[in-house]
Order: sequence, then structure tokens, then C-alpha cells
Amino acid sequence: MKTRAAVLRGGQDPFTVEELTVSEPQAGEVAVRMVAAGMCHTDVLIRELPPEFFMGPQVYGHEGAGVVESVGEGVTHVAPGDHVVLSFNNCGDCPACNQGRFPYCFNFPMANTAGGRPDGTSAFTDTNGDRVGSHYFGQSSFANHTIAAANSVVKVDSSLDLARLGPLGCGVQTGAGTVFNTLGVEAGSSLVVAGAGALGLSAIMAAKVAEAGTIIAIDRHQERLDLATAYGATHVLSGDPVEMTGAIIEATRGGADYAFDATGAAPVVRAVVNGLNNIGTCALAGVGLGELVLDYMTMIGGRTITGVMEGDSTPAEFIPHLAQLNADGVFPFHELIVEFPLDQINEVEAASADGSVVKPVLVF
Ligand SMILES: NC(=O)c1ccc[n+]([C@@H]2O[C@H](COP(=O)([O-])OP(=O)(O)OC[C@H]3O[C@@H](n4cnc5c(N)ncnc54)[C@H](O)[C@@H]3O)[C@@H](O)[C@H]2O)c1
Ligand SMILES: [Zn+2]
Ligand SMILES: [Zn+2]
Repeated sequence: MKTRAAVLRGGQDPFTVEELTVSEPQAGEVAVRMVAAGMCHTDVLIRELPPEFFMGPQVYGHEGAGVVESVGEGVTHVAPGDHVVLSFNNCGDCPACNQGRFPYCFNFPMANTAGGRPDGTSAFTDTNGDRVGSHYFGQSSFANHTIAAANSVVKVDSSLDLARLGPLGCGVQTGAGTVFNTLGVEAGSSLVVAGAGALGLSAIMAAKVAEAGTIIAIDRHQERLDLATAYGATHVLSGDPVEMTGAIIEATRGGADYAFDATGAAPVVRAVVNGLNNIGTCALAGVGLGELVLDYMTMIGGRTITGVMEGDSTPAEFIPHLAQLNADGVFPFHELIVEFPLDQINEVEAASADGSVVKPVLVF
């Protein structure tokens, strides 16, 4: 089958929208007609990495929402016509997967960022017959038609508005899951959220659902801080990270119970970790490059820092749960979405980078 897809042909090149040929679904795969696909910062992380990280032409996209067209051998949890959200992939049989901790799959790179199937083949070829990488996060959803790994495919209720559900596949799930699953934020507790983008604002909305008492948002864009306030932040901070620690301690009367970083900026992480109380926990989701330096005594006092992937979620359960909270009106992540056609993908990247759009979604 032919499809239109956004292809990245060099780490610093713009996306090009091209006609590709899509293979049939193999065993353990699902053919999906895309309805919408969110763009997450991770789709363009390649821009910040050394050139050797670019593995050749590739279709990105890992927040897909679509309709199942056909299924490969052995796939029984979805059928043609089902509405699905596409999330990260996992191997299903490693020490982490066997404990149900799928985001920490020991084979995560092979399942999500290898540029194709585990056997090295790809689902896409271009008009010259050359290979174009597929299976990004098990899905490569910046395409009208794609092939997804079965473990990436989550069935959702067909009465829901499918076009808004793609971001549940990564960014929204990560922000909300960190609050609900990783940190277990309780009613009345205090939480610092650094980075009021897609992840951070989802975390703030989740903290509101959890009835957190004090919610402190940090960002460098005033309009993002205004959104944070609109969705439940009780305090906002920007400017010099060194001064933020004192402001956090003052606002929480002694230090925050929880912190969530979605900036990936070491000075900000240091400020929020220093702003925790002795038994506080900070979850790091933002992807930072280089070192994070902390004073030894910061940690000896009892604080906890944990990395978090995909909000510690089991997508098959958590995505339908978040979709229902949204339908119930208490988790309005869809208000962060701005829709664009696929051929505006480069404008989407720019709008995301300059902070003017929180959650761009490509519609097909
Ligand atoms: N761990 C995971 O599972 C996971 C999942 C999705 C995304 N991510 C990563 O999380 C991060 C956030 O993703 P997003 O989609 O929310 O991105 P985003 O660009 O929408 O949000 C990031 C926000 O952080 C703010 N920010 C960045 N540096 C800052 C600084 N030094 N001081 C103050 N504010 C700063 C930006 O202004 C922006 O509002 C990215 O690094 C992304 O790659 C991780
Ligand atoms: Zn695994
Ligand atoms: Zn993502």
C-alpha cells in the first residue's frame, strides 16, 4: 500500500512529506490508518544529539491515534475497525516486562529506537525502493498508514473523540503517570513541576485531580506559567534557578514533598532537588545531556531522586483511564492541542520549540 509520511533524511534537515510504500503487517503487528498524531519533544531530540546518532532516513511520531485496518498473525487484542492509541513498545519478556514495568523494558532501544523491526527490516520503502526507518516507539505515526508493534497498540472506546487521544501515548501519559504512579501525590501534599510544557501541564492537571495542596510551576515562558496557573498551579517561578530553592522552601513552609522535572536542565533540577524536604522525592522525566552535579549532603539527608519513563504506566490500562478522566471533564489535556495538517510538520516543530504551541497534533 502507498502512504504519505513525514520523513527525516538528516539529523538537521527539515522533514519532507513523501510517498512511501507500507508493508503488510507481519506476525505480532497491526496495520493502522492514522487519524491524528501528536508531536513530542523526543521526536526532534535528534537535533540535539551528535551526528552519529542519526541512523538514516526515518519516519518519527510516537503519539498516534487511529483505526485498525488489519492485524498480523497472533494479534488478538484488537480487530479491524477498532479505535486505538499508539504508545511505546516493549519486548514483553525481560526482567522489567515480567514485573509489569514495561517502560523500563531491558530491550527498550531495540523495541523503540532501532529504526525498524528486531530482525532489521523496515515497514517503509521510498519511491526509489530504498529503506526508510519505521517502528519508532513501535509505531512511526507521522504517516497516513503505518505498521505498529502489537504491544504499542491500545484499544480505546469508540465513543470517545479519537482525534484528541494521541498525546496520551507519550507526553500526557508521562506527566500524569509521574504524578499518579511514580510519585503517588496525595491530597494536601506539595509538588514542584519544572517545565510547564506538555508533560508539566499534564502533571499539574493530574495533581489537581489528586487534590495536591501546593503546586509550584517553573518555566522560562510567561505564557506557559499563565497556563500552569489556569490548570491549578498555586505558585509560579522563573528566572535564576539558584533563587528558586528559597522560594520553594518558603512556599511549602520547609520544602516540597514531591518534584517533577520536565526541563532536562541541570541547574533547574538542582534547584528543585534542593527545595525538597528531607523525605521528598524528585522524578526526572526531562531528557538532559551531560552531567547533573549535586552536593553530597543533599542526598545523605534522605531525599530520593528517580528517573521516570512514560509515567511508569501500563498503557493498556492507564490510557483508557486517562481518556475517561478527560471525557468526565476533570483532566482537560485536549485544551493544550493545536491541530495542523501533515505538510505543516516543519511549522509544527518551530511552534513547539518557540513555546507558542504546547501540544501540536498532526491530523490526517
Ligand atoms: N521520560 C519520558 O518518558 C519522557 C516522555 C516524553 C518526553 N520526555 C522529555 O521530557 C521533556 C519535556 O517534554 P515536553 O513535550 O513537555 O516538552 P516542552 O518543550 O513542551 O516543555 C518543556 C518546558 O520546559 C521549559 N524549560 C526548558 N528548559 C528550561 C529552563 N532551563 N528553565 C525554565 N524552563 C525551561 C520550556 O520553556 C518548556 O515550556 C523533553 O526533554 C522530552 O524529551 C521524556
Ligand atoms: Zn522487555
Ligand atoms: Zn514522547
